[in-house]
Amino acid sequence: MKPLGIAVIGCGAISGVHLKSVAGLESAKLLAVVDTNEALARTTAEQYSCDYYTDYREMLKRADIDVVHVCTAHYLHAPMTVDALAAGKHVLTEKPMAETKAAAQTMLDAAAKHTDVQLGVIFQNRYNPASVIMKRYVDSGELGKLQGMKGIVTWHRDAKYYATEWKGNWATEGGGVLINQSIHTLDLLQWLGGELASIKGTMSTDALEGVIEVEDTVHAHLVFRSGVTAIFYATNAYAINSPVEVELLFENGKLSMQGDTLYLTQNGEQTLLSEPVVNELGEKSYWGVSHGVQIRDFYEHVATGRKFWIDGAEGYKAFRSVMDIYESSRSGKRIQYSENTVTTS
Ligand SMILES: NC(=O)c1ccc[n+]([C@@H]2O[C@H](COP(=O)([O-])OP(=O)(O)OC[C@H]3O[C@@H](n4cnc5c(N)ncnc54)[C@H](O)[C@@H]3O)[C@@H](O)[C@H]2O)c1
Repeated sequence: MKPLGIAVIGCGAISGVHLKSVAGLESAKLLAVVDTNEALARTTAEQYSCDYYTDYREMLKRADIDVVHVCTAHYLHAPMTVDALAAGKHVLTEKPMAETKAAAQTMLDAAAKHTDVQLGVIFQNRYNPASVIMKRYVDSGELGKLQGMKGIVTWHRDAKYYATEWKGNWATEGGGVLINQSIHTLDLLQWLGGELASIKGTMSTDALEGVIEVEDTVHAHLVFRSGVTAIFYATNAYAINSPVEVELLFENGKLSMQGDTLYLTQNGEQTLLSEPVVNELGEKSYWGVSHGVQIRDFYEHVATGRKFWIDGAEGYKAFRSVMDIYESSRSGKRIQYSENTVTTS
């Protein structure tokens, strides 16, 4: 089969993971990169032997490009995705989908309109071996009913990290630790817990007050339709990046994840279920490095015409919770979900 033609928009920090992943696949060929920083676009293109553009709309005119990766600031995801879908390109956008619900809705609408192409959202941590095992236990019911969950993210981001044009601002980043760093953990809780019944959250700017306008700390309480509840805490104000923690409490056992290490505790005994490994792309697995696996999975769905499972509607779920935690924090009220209001694409 002819390799898919790929373009990556945005040659910043995360782009290397995408570019390296594409370069390692026979099913795809990187044809172009785009960045408004021309020097960066040129050196990236030289490194990966492809063409470069400074205007993504010029790149979208190419008939040989099938899939576009959106690796830019949050506020640019929606317009770039909408334009790319309209140009007949499949889109794999970085998380979060967008910076506001209205912007995300334009992506869902575009995906619903252009049914010949697919929209995928990066949530690579669903592919981590520990996440896959946790999901299997939830679905199989072999540990009895799921009773409760917790997700904890204690990371470090200082003023230097936020000294870019788009980070730390509501308008361009759409939030702080919740929308950017810990949305992955919120996504896992929702993937494991199912449809939400209600959510309540509180945010604050503790360490970086006066430096950033967005939050650096948040906590939330989630109630799922099944009756399962989850507590969630995330901060960028810790001294280091600690391994992300997720705990699932079942009737007959407990799963405890720390980074890529997963333990089952049952009848007072602890069993190791998963630990960091080197994946097929030669990457040492640590929390957050499953990009290559998700990208390959997306391409397989595109090539075979099967619907990709982390599509716009699925990507919207954690994003909606992020937005609703912000709203809940501002109003002091719990947000109730009467029915599934997520638009399916
Ligand atoms: N999945 C993950 O674990 C993960 C990790 C890090 C970042 N991300 C996401 O990746 C995205 C990018 O983050 P980053 O840290 O790489 O940002 P970055 O600021 O390092 O890179 C963004 C790049 O986009 C370029 N750019 C700006 N405007 C542009 C335009 N109009 N056209 C083309 N290029 C343009 C900038 O010049 C810059 O090089 C964000 O959505 C972020 O949340 C995801």
